[in-house]
Amino acid sequence: MSLKTFTREEVGRHASENDLWIIIDSSVYDMSRFINFHPGGAAPILEMAGKDATEDFYGLHRQEVLVKYSKYKIGTIANEKAQITIRQNGDFSKVPYGEPSAWMGFKSPYYKESHYKFRAAIRPIIDELAEEARHFEDTETKPTDEFMQKLGSYNLLAANVGPGPWLRNITLPGGVTGEEFDYFHELILHEETARWGTRGAGDGIFGGMVISIPTVLNFGSPALKAKIVPEVFSGKKRICLAITEPYAGSDVASIRTTAKKTADGKHYIVNGVKKWITGGMYCQYADYFSTAVQTENGMSMLLIDRSDDVETKAIKTSYSSSAGTSYIIFENVKVPVENLLGKEDRGFMVVLSNFNHERWVMITSVSMAARIVIEECFKWANQRKVFGKRLIDQPVIRNKLAVMVAELESFHNWVENITYQMCHMGYKEQSEKLAGPLALCKYQSTRMLHNVSDSACQIFGGRALTKTGMGKHIEMLQRTYKFSAILGGAEEIMADLGVRQAMKSFPAGARL
Ligand SMILES: Cc1cc2nc3c(=O)[nH]c(=O)nc-3n(C[C@H](O)[C@H](O)[C@H](O)COP(=O)(O)OP(=O)(O)OC[C@H]3O[C@@H](n4cnc5c(N)ncnc54)[C@H](O)[C@@H]3O)c2cc1C
Ligand code: HEM
Repeated sequence: MSLKTFTREEVGRHASENDLWIIIDSSVYDMSRFINFHPGGAAPILEMAGKDATEDFYGLHRQEVLVKYSKYKIGTIANEKAQITIRQNGDFSKVPYGEPSAWMGFKSPYYKESHYKFRAAIRPIIDELAEEARHFEDTETKPTDEFMQKLGSYNLLAANVGPGPWLRNITLPGGVTGEEFDYFHELILHEETARWGTRGAGDGIFGGMVISIPTVLNFGSPALKAKIVPEVFSGKKRICLAITEPYAGSDVASIRTTAKKTADGKHYIVNGVKKWITGGMYCQYADYFSTAVQTENGMSMLLIDRSDDVETKAIKTSYSSSAGTSYIIFENVKVPVENLLGKEDRGFMVVLSNFNHERWVMITSVSMAARIVIEECFKWANQRKVFGKRLIDQPVIRNKLAVMVAELESFHNWVENITYQMCHMGYKEQSEKLAGPLALCKYQSTRMLHNVSDSACQIFGGRALTKTGMGKHIEMLQRTYKFSAILGGAEEIMADLGVRQAMKSFPAGARL
């Protein structure tokens, strides 16, 4: 239908229940057929019949509502231009602090042309997939095979694991080659997917894989790698990391699951239980379980295939079951010795080897989760009127924004500094020098998130506690930020590790 233009007087003549037009940002909407289906009831719309409802509308709805119900738009007001920007897929934010500073016109020593190209190329791809990711989150369902394979087709599953030989000879969005892909490209990728604001589905899509596939990539036999890695990176199969047990979380060495060698030495028989395993759940959700077990003289890691002897049960948590959080029971599971990851009894090293990367992935996502919420707060404070003033006109609200921004930007600068070190250090140097700073940075990330979530809730009021509508991102953050504070090393453990690492290089002669 081609859109007409109207004068404001013309719109004013359509002000009865059966013939009801309103104006929102110089666009004219015919509400006559919608009024009885309006989720907010007929009365509020009737009150605005024939009038300009822009201010009231934006006090109550997100702009997505207008996109979703665009069929009711019948025209525009003659000689007027829309004042409000409707975000399109791929758009960058112009709201202060809405993007990392290098994307807001500030200079950065860290990013090269290929990083800018990469973010520009993946932003629309990730935006396109956002609705589906939100669908998994809201319906608590398994991220579909088609969805995973779409990510795989852009090589974005492999890229989630970071730079390495697995990216050799492949090209990523923006024309970035696997060889030039570095930790700043990877940081951009984690930030972009965090923009979905789907904490549970995000873990279901990437979380389980990012923490588990490195055990195969770095410690699997060539035959195991040749079979499993292409399946996982193409999105055809899924893998999870099964370490934690009801008996042992932070204290990894205390796990009790056993793997006993058969008399012929060809198999292990695995018995035990695992708790909270991300991506382990659902019918055929995880195909492979990278599992910590006790062998004769210590801990070992085994890759276990799904079979009838592996039972997975859903654990309901406060985020979406789309994460596939599971309780796993291994009962006399027969595992070929070829599935040993690394050396027998040396599994602790395999477990430790990926901790730094896992923690760094988590902090990169945390920074974007906070940034989105701060952007929402800026917008809301600007459009919400209380006691006749915008919220932003209240010094108390400006102070909350100031503290949130200061905490985020100082944290983000630390993340970029650590990422720079990762780009310029080999694995051994990273292990020696970065375990402490990464642990402290992870600790700081969730302290910052705690404060941002708290202030954002106060700024949004009741809407911060409502799953849909204006405060949906705030509600998601306040319900889920603790996941980041406990998973991948709880805050207390991170703080303690950071200081213990620092004390290793404390100069013996230092005195006050
Ligand atoms: C949703 C979800 C998903 C998860 N996904 C996985 C997964 O995919 N794979 C996997 O293997 N595990 C997973 N986990 C487990 C997670 O890694 C553990 O929950 C975490 O390591 C903490 O262990 P715990 O919960 O047993 O806490 P505990 O170890 O019992 O600790 C309880 C509290 O005491 C504190 N504490 C412990 N020791 C000390 C100390 N020495 N000093 C001071 N304070 C201390 C901790 O910080 C913690 O806050 C997941 C957990 C959840 C909730
Ligand atoms: C194109 C026009 C409109 C559409 C498509 C529309 C649609 C919706 C939708 C989908 C909701 C559910 C809440 C949400 O998801 O955000 C809602 C809620 C609501 N709407 Fe509208 N609406 C329109 C115009 C208006 C107008 C002009 C008013 C009056 C000022 C109004 C008042 C309300 C109220 C009071 C609620 C309840 C909000 C709450 O629960 O906090 N709507 N509307």
